[in-house]
Amino acid sequence: MTANLKQNSSKGHNKCMMSRRDFLLYSGVATAVSIVPLSLFAGTDSETQVEGRIVGYPRKKIAKLSELSDHTPVHFQYPDEGKNAIAMLVKADIECGGGIGQKRDIVAYSMTCTHQGGPLAGAYKVTGDHRIVGQCPFHLSTFDLRRHGIMVSGQAFESLPQVLLELEGDDIYAVGVMGLIFGRMENLIDVEVG
Ligand code: FES
Repeated sequence: MTANLKQNSSKGHNKCMMSRRDFLLYSGVATAVSIVPLSLFAGTDSETQVEGRIVGYPRKKIAKLSELSDHTPVHFQYPDEGKNAIAMLVKADIECGGGIGQKRDIVAYSMTCTHQGGPLAGAYKVTGDHRIVGQCPFHLSTFDLRRHGIMVSGQAFESLPQVLLELEGDDIYAVGVMGLIFGRMENLIDVEVG
């Protein structure tokens, strides 16, 4: 018997990023990241040793810190190459929620509108101390990049999913997603049978 435990790999955002879904034990197919021993029904006559497969977001290198310029977005695909995976990394030159770097100003977001999937790539804007994405070309929603992608105007009612980042030396890695990417039942849909 094998159980799969899905967990998020980010270290620095655990409190805000984890959803109940991220911790569900499930028996479906998924890429095995690591194998851990588990004891079921411990302390009872039915105690059984099983192997658990821990599944998490990929840790994907997406940019180099030294190559970033303020307000020059870098687009990338995450967590896979599948549907609505387009995302944007930007150095916003002002502290942002979940930001990394010395000024905590480097953030990344899904570029698919949470309302009806409008394309947001290219819609990053700076207005004074505000850093927004939008307006969405479909129904004019805008999202606040300083406050975890919360919707600030328009038709959407869910925040823009934030891609969680880690900095290791000069390398910036995507390590998870906070919020459900539009058009998906699960963020991790493009995984292979382990
Ligand atoms: S799809 Fe973006 S506001 Fe409707």
